[in-house]
Amino acid sequence: MWSPNPSTLIMLLLVFSLFQVPAFAIRKSYIVYLGSHSHAPGVSKVDLQLVTDSHYNFLSSYLGSKAKAIDSIIYSYKRHINGFAAFLEEEEAAEIAKNPKVVSVFLNKGRKLHTTHSWDFMLLEENDKVKRSSLWERARFGEDTIIANLDTGVWPESQSFSDKGLGPIPSKWKGICQNSHSVPCNKKLIGTRYFNKGYLAYTGLKLNSSLNSARDTEGHGSHTLSTAAGNFVPGANVFGLGNGTAKGGSPKARVASYKVCWPPVNGSECFDADIMKAFDMAIHDGVDVLSVSLGGDPVDYFEDGLSIGAFHAVKNDVVVVCSAGNSGPTPGTVSNVSPWMITVGASTLDREFQAFVELGNGLRLKGTSLSKALPKSKLYPLISADEARKSDASVKDAILCKKDTLDPTKVKGKILACLRGETARVDKGEQASLAGAVGMILCNDKLSGNEIIADAHVLPASQVNYTDGVAVFAYIKSTANPVGFITAPNAKLGTKPAPFMASFSSRGPNTVTPEILKPDITAPGVNIIAAYSEATSPTDEPFDNRRIPFNTESGTSMSCPHVSGVVGLLKTLYPNWSPAAIRSAIMTTARTRDNTQNPMLDASYVESTPFAHGSGHIRPNRAMDPGLVYDLTTNEYLDFLCALGYNQTLMEAFTSNRECPKPAINLHDFNYPSISIPKVLSGSVTVTRRVKNVGPAGTYAARVVKPAGVSVCVEPNVLKFENIGEEKSFKVTLKPEGSRKALQAKKSGVPKRYVFGGLNWSDGKHYVRTPIVVAAA
Ligand SMILES: *[C@@H]1O[C@H](CO)[C@@H](O)[C@H](O)[C@H]1NC(C)=O
Ligand SMILES: *[C@@H]1O[C@H](CO)[C@@H](O)[C@H](O)[C@H]1NC(C)=O
Ligand SMILES: *[C@@H]1O[C@H](CO)[C@@H](O)[C@H](O)[C@H]1NC(C)=O
Ligand SMILES: *[C@@H]1O[C@H](CO)[C@@H](O)[C@H](O)[C@H]1NC(C)=O
Ligand SMILES: *[C@@H]1O[C@H](CO)[C@@H](O)[C@H](O)[C@H]1NC(C)=O
Ligand SMILES: *[C@@H]1O[C@H](CO)[C@@H](O)[C@H](O)[C@H]1NC(C)=O
Repeated sequence: MWSPNPSTLIMLLLVFSLFQVPAFAIRKSYIVYLGSHSHAPGVSKVDLQLVTDSHYNFLSSYLGSKAKAIDSIIYSYKRHINGFAAFLEEEEAAEIAKNPKVVSVFLNKGRKLHTTHSWDFMLLEENDKVKRSSLWERARFGEDTIIANLDTGVWPESQSFSDKGLGPIPSKWKGICQNSHSVPCNKKLIGTRYFNKGYLAYTGLKLNSSLNSARDTEGHGSHTLSTAAGNFVPGANVFGLGNGTAKGGSPKARVASYKVCWPPVNGSECFDADIMKAFDMAIHDGVDVLSVSLGGDPVDYFEDGLSIGAFHAVKNDVVVVCSAGNSGPTPGTVSNVSPWMITVGASTLDREFQAFVELGNGLRLKGTSLSKALPKSKLYPLISADEARKSDASVKDAILCKKDTLDPTKVKGKILACLRGETARVDKGEQASLAGAVGMILCNDKLSGNEIIADAHVLPASQVNYTDGVAVFAYIKSTANPVGFITAPNAKLGTKPAPFMASFSSRGPNTVTPEILKPDITAPGVNIIAAYSEATSPTDEPFDNRRIPFNTESGTSMSCPHVSGVVGLLKTLYPNWSPAAIRSAIMTTARTRDNTQNPMLDASYVESTPFAHGSGHIRPNRAMDPGLVYDLTTNEYLDFLCALGYNQTLMEAFTSNRECPKPAINLHDFNYPSISIPKVLSGSVTVTRRVKNVGPAGTYAARVVKPAGVSVCVEPNVLKFENIGEEKSFKVTLKPEGSRKALQAKKSGVPKRYVFGGLNWSDGKHYVRTPIVVAAA
């Protein structure tokens, strides 16, 4: 009999993997995905046990006995997702994959959190910028909407999760507070669960008490959850900087934490088997919005636990928001590309943490920092790290301020100039401090160019760009007694241009289904301040003993929950809108210009494209009133899968009453709020779309911004709507223009160049924009 006690189960698995498996038969943890359940509402314990039994029976037909099946199975997915995770040999997995009832069999892979490393930046209130107060008020601050994340857990003592001002827990909530003596819940933090069996199965680690808790010891999960839905916290700051009221996008929403990420093993920290279990439970528990700031390499939809989980969530009207990844600016790196997810890139805010470097020769260089001020307002002696090296250290290592390269007798009492590169920025600060420096100027190397980052260094410091760094070293060499000063960091608002795309934000094209443009949207993801875990330091380095309730971090991990917070508001305002309608509202109202009114830029200061920003930068107040939406039903997602080659047999794994359309739909006609033509045009291509009126009656006219060298014809180009909910279709025909040479079809390979345009439906009040991307050569 299956024992529900996790520790017993893990012991069993270990015992079996140690003693019963012959050395040559390597068993790994796999996921066997069987599609959907068709439980009636109010499924009973007996029904769930029947599911588990069916999984045992299924597996025992391959392994030879029910006892072996019971020993192998790690998880049964019983409620919405149908399938199980189990220890299998490669040959067994291959045999099972041949069964026509099986949708897919894949290894329990590890995923990564989408944060660049911590010790990041600082800002006042990420929400001021987007002035979402009117949406806030109308949406009652997201009251009673339930937003959850799949992440590293939660720091429940954070003020962001205080239940001040909140009424009783919404009655629809069916979740639990697992291990509440370790992580107590309240009327704000209404649920926690943790999932570690997939992690233990992959790593072979032993279960211990810290793995049996949803407590966040890393900071990431608390940061993302509070960004999405943290309560109001006045006087929040990081070392006194950026003082203001911290708040999430839906400050009165309820939150729940599903911990699926654990201390990294070989760079992986969140595993598919756990992710799928968390999705299955979150859907059951009654979550409205799931914020998922993690991912792996882009893979097929049904060989990816996150994509499978998201599919079932959306099928049940739960909106799933995911980070695009931090592998930019290389093209084709965007992950979490399923058409049922909202995929979020990251861009900057209009604020900097300026700390000026003043040199004895009168130069004043704008650097950035989050560290404390120098003790006295006076010029300090300066030394460059190569000159401060120990006798046995090389110039090359010393100038990078590596460990054990600096001579304290030379450094003591001075400001030390170090070169960026090789070792962690905050570690250079630690070495400078250990050698007795009073401050540090961190000079960019050529590679890091103009990208300067405000770190919470352990000593007063400022980071300057490459050209300024060259000037610092040149000044020090030019005089016998170089002197300098670093001003206290100061948060400066209204910096221009902003937003611009973060260079780390993963870029399209979508390598899984290039007909779907990804990412969908961009949101602030650089220098984001939010709640943190007090189990770790702001630099996340062992030498750093500081503990702070709020910290700054950067990554698409941080932009994702901004969108989740806005989704929470839209869910409160429009409880009956589908996840696709909510995504459409966010996408078609986005902005593509920055605060200089020019097109948004990339980190390299060239114009950004939809491969970086999708439809543009989120504009919450506009999203509340989109006019028209491009909606999608679950059946349309199934038709999409049919078009990808998932045949009728597999469709039956999802639903018994849907046939694959014959012929299959053209992927160009999938009703997505963007248009992507990934094959170089040789003749014309026609794309069909359908828009639904969600605003007042009105007449919408189409306006096109042509991609260079492509003619675009919209038919009809006027749509008249009389009622809410009315839907109208239209066609967009794209043709290479003029001389064929401009858009000549290349015979082979991935297109090298794309051209960009847009379609804009307007009734004079609403602007419903969709980007158009066409392969050009
Ligand atoms: C981690 O990587 C090392 C070196 O590649 C390998 O020997 C080890 O088995 C890996 N550990 C796990 C749990 O995969
Ligand atoms: C529990 O195991 C994890 C993973 O190996 C480890 O990081 C952590 O320090 C352990 N905690 C305790 C209390 O032993
Ligand atoms: C932050 O602002 C609040 C209210 O304006 C003030 O009471 C508090 O002292 C400030 N804290 C810091 C560190 O500046
Ligand atoms: C480096 O920063 C300075 C401001 O101190 C600025 O004037 C200069 O243009 C920057 N260099 C580059 C290459 O952007
Ligand atoms: C569907 O595909 C599977 C595997 O690709 C195949 O075994 C099965 O026969 C197909 N079914 C139909 C109805 O074509
Ligand atoms: C959309 O069209 C309207 C007029 O029809 C125009 O005012 C607006 O600037 C257009 N927006 C974009 C982003 O093309």
